[in-house]
Amino acid sequence: MGRVFVAGSINMDVVATADRHPRIGETVAGRQVLYFPGGKGANQAVAASRLGAGTTLIGRLGKDAFGAELRQFLGDQGIDLGYVQDTAEAHTGTAIITVAKSDNTIVVIPGANGLVGADDVGIVPMLKGDVAVSQFEIPLPTIAAFFRRAREAGAVTVLNPAPAQAMPGELLALVDILVLNETELGFLGGAELTDADEAATIIAVARELQARADQTICVTLGKRGVLALAGGEELVVPGRPVKAVDTTGAGDCFVGALAAQLADGVPLRAALAFANAAASISVQRMGAGPSMPTAAEVATVLGAG
Ligand code: RIB
Ligand code: NA
Repeated sequence: MGRVFVAGSINMDVVATADRHPRIGETVAGRQVLYFPGGKGANQAVAASRLGAGTTLIGRLGKDAFGAELRQFLGDQGIDLGYVQDTAEAHTGTAIITVAKSDNTIVVIPGANGLVGADDVGIVPMLKGDVAVSQFEIPLPTIAAFFRRAREAGAVTVLNPAPAQAMPGELLALVDILVLNETELGFLGGAELTDADEAATIIAVARELQARADQTICVTLGKRGVLALAGGEELVVPGRPVKAVDTTGAGDCFVGALAAQLADGVPLRAALAFANAAASISVQRMGAGPSMPTAAEVATVLGAG
């Protein structure tokens, strides 16, 4: 069984809940302010670890109260934090989130995440069968260095290019499995995609984007499920409609769960169905990190059909 290595962001999510989002220039009264462990990298590591994978997180925290709290939470999830440094040069990453009717808006301030460099990922001991995971909340050259190392070691690379930004072709070529939502696919593929697009349209954009013939592209479609292009083959995983209370971190849950399954040697189609079920659980709970399910919870959902 392989390990999951996640190089990525660690944030404190400062969440305001309200009945609706304010318009530009408007003030609305909120209901609650909540502090949740978040950050795409940390969330993906929490999901992988809770689902049973040996998980190592690589990242940076500030020397401040949020940093100490996040280190405690992530350690309690059984994640190896030996490659998470504290830096005096920046504050802990912070996300300011508004949740209204389960939809969110997020402003993320990278702080220490912006200082994760090639040196941080250069010493990580990866092996064949391991899974290396990253996202776009740490510098792109760091991700490229991490993936180069992973491929040398025989590990599988998984990139979640979120939040979307332009990416050098050189980085995309280092990716074995790209996991993204429809908006991110549209952005990277230079196409206008809406949530009413047919599978054939989405797959055509993915096919255009595919950097290598053996690259897998997984497109998460929220309640409509998942589409994947695996080499030349197309896979469809149906959606699992549930009543969402907070979708923050649902994509991260999917990525972490997929990585855990792949590290365990589960074939892609079954791994995607498992990750889809895991994400459907996470949206029914508030917060990002704390909403990640256990393997037993996913098994219950899958068993129920
Ligand atoms: O993907 C959700 C995450 O994005 C939040 O936890 C927030 O920290 C932002 O990084
Ligand atoms: Na959630």
